[in-house]
Amino acid sequence: MSVQPKIIPIIALASGAALLAAFAAVGGAKGDTIVGRSAFEKRCTGCHALDHEKTGPRLAGVVGRKAGTVSGFPYSDAVKKSAVVWNETVLEKWLTDPETVIPDTDMAFRLDNPVERAAIIAFLKETGK
Ligand code: HEC
Repeated sequence: MSVQPKIIPIIALASGAALLAAFAAVGGAKGDTIVGRSAFEKRCTGCHALDHEKTGPRLAGVVGRKAGTVSGFPYSDAVKKSAVVWNETVLEKWLTDPETVIPDTDMAFRLDNPVERAAIIAFLKETGK
């Protein structure tokens, strides 16, 4: 964790540009995860938490999980009936435009920035370990 002291202040300032700079400066899996947590908190926690349901289902360990399987969460029929299993490729498409993965999903959100998408997916992968 030698990178952390340098990175946290950068993220604290986090404009989009700082986030990109931090991502580029750190690189590697560890950097992805740190920047990914920050991006997750900025982009996803309005509707999701790692360990409890909000507007969206909990996301810890979602990489490798079958879609629509958090028990008790009121998924759309589209997600419930889908055969999707969340991996990095599918998540990349999902965050770009959920409708292209599961038409009629209730998740009305798109993340245009590819750097943030990659960082968030790397972070979510770590939450499953
Ligand atoms: C505006 C609210 C909102 C935002 C913001 C949002 N989501 Fe969602 N998300 C939802 C809802 C609602 C669902 C359930 C969709 C359904 O049942 O059709 C969902 C479902 C999901 C699922 C499927 C989970 C499962 O158990 O099958 C994943 C993965 C996901 N979101 C990831 C993300 C990530 C990562 C972000 C941030 C980049 C994000 N979402 C941002 C509302 C949101």
